[in-house]
Amino acid sequence: MISSLARRLPLLLAVGFFTAGPLLLFVGPANALNYTQTTRRNAGTPNSTISVKKDGKVVKYGNKYIIYKAPSSDLDALGEALYMENCASCHGAQANGVPANGTSGAFPDLVGLGPATIDFWVDSGRMPAKDVRAIEAPRRQPALTPNQALAISAWVNSLSPSYPDIPTPNLKNANVAEGAALFALNCAACHTIEGDGDALAFDTFAPSLRHIPAFQVVEAIRTGPANMPRFTGNLSDKEVDDIVQYVTTEIQHPNNPGGFGLGGLGPVAEGFVGLLLGVGILVLICYWIGERS
Ligand code: HEC
Ligand code: HEC
Repeated sequence: MISSLARRLPLLLAVGFFTAGPLLLFVGPANALNYTQTTRRNAGTPNSTISVKKDGKVVKYGNKYIIYKAPSSDLDALGEALYMENCASCHGAQANGVPANGTSGAFPDLVGLGPATIDFWVDSGRMPAKDVRAIEAPRRQPALTPNQALAISAWVNSLSPSYPDIPTPNLKNANVAEGAALFALNCAACHTIEGDGDALAFDTFAPSLRHIPAFQVVEAIRTGPANMPRFTGNLSDKEVDDIVQYVTTEIQHPNNPGGFGLGGLGPVAEGFVGLLLGVGILVLICYWIGERS
């Protein structure tokens, strides 16, 4: 009895090791869901090394990782006209969320959200909304051009100037390995590590990140659209730049290091395939070395 146990000890240890390891990995990410939210107004205000002023107003700020630029006030008049035509029916002529028929509360107040927020929602095709009853406005082919989106952000921002301005990340200074680690900690819980997106509670979902331009990834991180948290003080511009590099290279152009892509199903599914194969082989080994009586 003792001797047969001793004979099987290495095998038992091996089985324990291979089953407990993946289980611990599954439990780990739960701790990552601990976000710090800062106030929405002026969210993303940078700790800048560059700050350019014109007529007393900051028109450009940032550092070697991300430059944020205010849309030119020359666009205000065009923006106002476009806003009245495309947005006022829901968000109101003052952009305060009160439409002409007077009921406030049905649509968000846009005053003081900052140019990056307005630009993100228009440039990602979410606005003008197609279906006001949709639980989550989806990304669509934009109805307005990038310059029209900038013009609308310029006018809305002129009502109550705030940040963040429109970001341009400098990916030459980014570190993709650090981006991968930061993505795993801050984003993968919702978007999955492969960036394919996933369902969240109450019929909402975290979308796929496969076709999002770099500057919009910064806009999303800094402004937190809808159910996504805003990452402001807790991620520096360097860290955001690193994450964007990871999203626009490894996620958008994966090269599956170390073997098969397994259809890019994500670590849980791929781990499960590994587990199944591994356990299967172990069972065969057990059967082979086991006592037969
Ligand atoms: C048909 C009505 C409708 C129109 C037209 C419309 N919106 Fe919206 N907008 C909404 C609704 C509803 C939401 C909330 C959607 C959500 O949270 O998914 C929203 C959300 C937004 C948000 C996010 C606000 C926040 O607090 O995060 C922005 C920014 C925005 N709209 C800007 C615009 C702009 C700019 C236009 C014009 C180009 C526009 N919208 C046109 C209905 C509309
Ligand atoms: C709590 C879940 C959650 C976390 C964590 C999260 N996101 Fe999101 N993300 C969302 C949701 C939900 C949306 C869709 C918002 C909407 O309805 O407009 C979104 C939208 C986006 C978009 C816009 C995609 C599109 O279709 O236009 C990008 C880019 C993005 N997230 C990147 C990130 C990055 C990078 C991180 C980590 C720094 C992150 N997200 C963390 C839930 C999350």
